[in-house]
Amino acid sequence: MQISIKVNGKEYSHDIEPRISLAQYLRETLNLTGTHIGCDTSGCGSCTVHVDGASAKACTLLAVQVDGCEIKTIEGMAHGSGMHPIQEAFKENHGLQCGFCTPGMVMTAADILKNNPNPTEEEIRHGLEGNFCRCTGYHNIVKSIQHAAEKINA
Ligand code: FES
Ligand code: FES
Repeated sequence: MQISIKVNGKEYSHDIEPRISLAQYLRETLNLTGTHIGCDTSGCGSCTVHVDGASAKACTLLAVQVDGCEIKTIEGMAHGSGMHPIQEAFKENHGLQCGFCTPGMVMTAADILKNNPNPTEEEIRHGLEGNFCRCTGYHNIVKSIQHAAEKINA
């Protein structure tokens, strides 16, 4: 099937198999390997991207379902050579260890902060409930998102 989508501001058109997930399409066809696949069953959140501005798990969306949509991946978050404030905050607050969950965490954090620029710790923890981290214990991830909110609102 033919699909046309915009990813990180760039238009793409491909003839793909209908069974290909959005995560596979991003990684294997567009070579955007920052979108990680952990569980491949919608449980861990490592594949989180934005579809038309809202976070979504790319492993359980078919690429054909997002035909005509605008997608943003972790590769589209940085501004030129500078990191996005959320990425900076993760770096400065040790919000990652192995980094496997981090792209999904950053994409979810962006969605949380878009909808609620000044979230409480509880609201951040609630917003992150679909994203698993096996390393950090979440504490520094929450701290990073609080710091990112301060940076964005400054
Ligand atoms: S890989 Fe998509 S939620 Fe785990
Ligand atoms: S930093 Fe390793 S899984 Fe989160």
